[in-house]
Amino acid sequence: MRMAVFGTGYLGATHAACMAELGHEVLGVDVDVKKIARLRAGEVPFYEPGLTELLQRNIENGRLAFTTSYEEAAEFGDVHFLGVGTPQRRGDYGADLKYVHAVIDTLAPLLTRPALIAGKSTVPVGTAAALADRVQQLAPAGADVELAWNPEFLREGFAIKDTLEPDRIVIGARPGGRAEGILRDIYASAVQAGTPFLVMDYATAELVKVSANAFLATKISFINAMAEVCEAVGGDVTLLADAIGYDNRIGRKFLNAGLGFGGGCLPKDIRAFMARAGELGADQALTFLREVDSINMRRRSRMVELATAASGGSLLGKNIAVLGAAFKPDSDDVRDSPALNVAGQMQLKGGNVSVYDPKAMDNARKVFPTLEYADAVTTACENADIVLVLTEWREFRDLDPDVLDGVVRNKVIADGRNCLNAPKWVQAGWRYRALGRSAS
Ligand code: UDX
Repeated sequence: MRMAVFGTGYLGATHAACMAELGHEVLGVDVDVKKIARLRAGEVPFYEPGLTELLQRNIENGRLAFTTSYEEAAEFGDVHFLGVGTPQRRGDYGADLKYVHAVIDTLAPLLTRPALIAGKSTVPVGTAAALADRVQQLAPAGADVELAWNPEFLREGFAIKDTLEPDRIVIGARPGGRAEGILRDIYASAVQAGTPFLVMDYATAELVKVSANAFLATKISFINAMAEVCEAVGGDVTLLADAIGYDNRIGRKFLNAGLGFGGGCLPKDIRAFMARAGELGADQALTFLREVDSINMRRRSRMVELATAASGGSLLGKNIAVLGAAFKPDSDDVRDSPALNVAGQMQLKGGNVSVYDPKAMDNARKVFPTLEYADAVTTACENADIVLVLTEWREFRDLDPDVLDGVVRNKVIADGRNCLNAPKWVQAGWRYRALGRSAS
């Protein structure tokens, strides 16, 4: 099938490469000339394991190309995926739909033959219905251009697997249309493998995405609230999570207590969801998400307090090694990164903060240019009064405490992700501190 994918950010670039991998002919489209030039040269503008190889392979075999021309894309594609960003609006909680609207308003007038527009971006409920009407007004092919909503659930770091082998495919479509059949063909390999293929109305499909993210955020904040209680009574939140996680109804996944969630999705999605519920007169239903957000943000200040206490009550003039800048491991994404937030706060309190991350250094420098950046764990830890692990990269989880012997000034480690083997560090003579657990 011939398709265009509009937006070549995380979602769009991954989707385009994966669709080509499935055997489709794909044209990636973006208004960013530099980004398109890099993609054409086989370069992925962000870090995602395996994506560069996938991109290059499909460019070479001729199934994947990139353009900035909407005319070329409209001519080329029978299906048009929409994968542009929906960031938080400046000054309020709602989602900014300007990129989505720009694609529709530019693309629809160019559609002169039957086509399907399949939206993948995370949008406030009600958006698809409004866009479908707009497409009808603008497209010369009129009712022959259909619109479907096909939300994307990919996680950064697992983006290829999540796209090629999703745990479900959700389609929001108008009844009686061709959208379902076309999308079944596009995702034929997953459908044949037994992936649930769920067809529903636009509003429910839009809600599936935001409610899934709201649930995940709630699960993380739940365990972090338990961490606060554990801290108050001297309990251990990691043991608690293991114990409740054995209950199949609860499950152990997404119960890792620590610095909480960040990134380009969960924080902005729960806020946009609250804003939209307010507009719809259903704000009471989601007031708990305000609490989910607050618990999450509190973990960052709690981490600073814990590190301050472990440094003798003040950070002034202290050398602080921060290991981790990305919002999670296997990603170079620093959007709303809890790790960088904590690093920044500690610097503002007078600490000399040195940051190291295996992949996110360039992005971190752009957001926090005043922090110091080291080129390796040991360089970041030179003469450190305290070492903080704020993103659970394997390199940090596997760190041998003895390697830092004689490098740091004080053997104090704060584990912001409950990811280290605590007894190993204690046996090596370190003071180990972690969120949601008593001091050892
Ligand atoms: C998320 C959703 O998982 C995905 O389905 C959606 O499409 C986009 O948003 P992503 O942002 O890539 O994906 O990250 P995810 O793996 O969900 O982690 C989100 C944040 O939660 C990270 O900051 C992570 O460190 C944190 N987290 C996750 C925890 O603090 N504890 C956990 O137990 C799990």
